[in-house]
Amino acid sequence: MDDIDEQRSYWDKKSEIYDSLYTTEWSLNEDSQIAEALKTIFSLEDSLSILDLGCGTGLGYEMIGRQHKYVGLDISYGMLRKFKQKHPNANVVCATANASARLFASNYFDFVISLNTAMSFFGNSKLTAEAVHAILKPGGIAFLSFLNRYSLRRFLRMQYDSTEIYNTRNSSSDAGFTSANTVSEGDLLSIYSDAGFRIDGFYYQSVLGGVAEKSNLIRLEKILSSRFGFLGHAINIVVCKI
Ligand SMILES: C[S@@+](CC[C@H](N)C(=O)[O-])C[C@H]1O[C@@H](n2cnc3c(N)ncnc32)[C@H](O)[C@@H]1O
Repeated sequence: MDDIDEQRSYWDKKSEIYDSLYTTEWSLNEDSQIAEALKTIFSLEDSLSILDLGCGTGLGYEMIGRQHKYVGLDISYGMLRKFKQKHPNANVVCATANASARLFASNYFDFVISLNTAMSFFGNSKLTAEAVHAILKPGGIAFLSFLNRYSLRRFLRMQYDSTEIYNTRNSSSDAGFTSANTVSEGDLLSIYSDAGFRIDGFYYQSVLGGVAEKSNLIRLEKILSSRFGFLGHAINIVVCKI
């Protein structure tokens, strides 16, 4: 099985239960923080073109897509089927993220988003950065989420490699595992500067993610995030095409 088949097979199996894994108070709190970050970063008044890479079952659409020219792209038919059941009018395409430069015209999108560590599943990170650069308009902005190599979760497991055998949080391993890339701020700085972006900043998420996700720990999470945010489970980079 090559990498693409492995990803598709894993996410197709997860699609049946994916949404049910993220209904807890903890997850809803995480979602509202991402939505806040997106609304702060993107000025969303006008009708804009947005591409959501690894859109899954439609979280990005629900957060910011509805009022805009939104396209969700994902490799998994199962995830896209769930998305379309909830939002029949949304535009989705089944493809790999790295093929997006062939699917869309150059300089087409105002914004590219990729949420909840989706970027870690797309294989060669340099190719994805080049694809995002090709399809964004000059001045366009991307908010891209990866698994943080140096998160608290990984420190506790003594995992420091650039790849990990991944299973979705809080789910059984019945669907098997898939592989994911982990990145550091330094990796992202170099990949995205080389691809021709201005780096606008980093936004870490969820220090206790994958460690202890309990609603009574949300306050502790806020404190830890304000002081040790760099240990977050996810690292998001915000870049602008120059
Ligand atoms: C962690 S989930 C995130 C889903 C969604 N962004 C969210 O926040 O709920 C990762 C998603 O990336 C998709 N994916 C994995 N490999 C991909 C690839 N090479 N190209 C496009 N999508 C891919 C999976 O099918 C899955 O829906």
